[in-house]
Amino acid sequence: MFVREGVNEAAPISSMPGVVQHSMDSLRRAAVEAAEAGVGGVMLFGVPAVRDAAGSGADDPNGILNVATRALVDEVGDALVVQTDLCLDEFTDHGHCGVLAADGSVDNDATLERYVSMALGQARAGSHLLGLSGMMDGQVAAIRRGLDAEGFTDTLLLGYAAKYASAFYGPFREAVDSQLQGDRRTYQLDPGNRREGIREALIDEAEGADIVMVKPAMSFLDVLREVRDAVHVPVWAYQISGEYAMIEAAAANGWIDRRAAVLESLLSIRRAGADAVLTYWATEAATWLHEG
Ligand code: PBG
Repeated sequence: MFVREGVNEAAPISSMPGVVQHSMDSLRRAAVEAAEAGVGGVMLFGVPAVRDAAGSGADDPNGILNVATRALVDEVGDALVVQTDLCLDEFTDHGHCGVLAADGSVDNDATLERYVSMALGQARAGSHLLGLSGMMDGQVAAIRRGLDAEGFTDTLLLGYAAKYASAFYGPFREAVDSQLQGDRRTYQLDPGNRREGIREALIDEAEGADIVMVKPAMSFLDVLREVRDAVHVPVWAYQISGEYAMIEAAAANGWIDRRAAVLESLLSIRRAGADAVLTYWATEAATWLHEG
């Protein structure tokens, strides 16, 4: 779920029909609806009003993501796992997932310090589970150490381990008003490299990840199966914005049966080995599944 700072009403995202940038009120309502439908948890993404090079809004207790987290933990924290995206890209004015070095490259180790600060902010806001989606090397170990040192030993870490530099993130960039020029190929994985996805999952598990992620889902089902077989923690898969947009667009044209296609896509992700799926259809799919 996307929550936008400083708005009174939800705003549609044109490339993701049915998904919105929430206001605080509509976010609360949507979270209650998700809980009632039987969804297991919600992942929150903030869309800040102001951005800067360091992504200062990310670890500000009054930044939109931390404010929204407190509100949701208060509203639905007993019914849902409240999860937060831990990445700087929504908060930086250059749109990268980390801070930049003087030469314009993403500075891995300087970014880890920002991530630890962001993790503490999210843990203090009450987030149950931090979604480490930035793909910096060593992020799981650094954040686990930083949280434990401040007593947040029960805050769970979801390591985005096998996160590939995908063309299918396109609609998400609209969803968060991304400022990115260029690409993320220096820190996300090369889609042609299957083994590196497995290796990253093993590294994240060794660093203390409670769960590891494979992302995108549908174009990486082989990686998902292999990661499931390789690690001993839960494996989740993220059915990303482009996967959502493709099915919605085809269904809107009458080219496929929407409900059947959505359910088949989720089924295939489960079949490949996902213990849980992040999907923009979560509330609707949960409703369908409970109908039987
Ligand atoms: C990084 C992040 C991204 C997505 C989730 N977390 C953007 C990216 O890596 O470019 C994309 C998710 C989607 O496409 O649905 N904060």
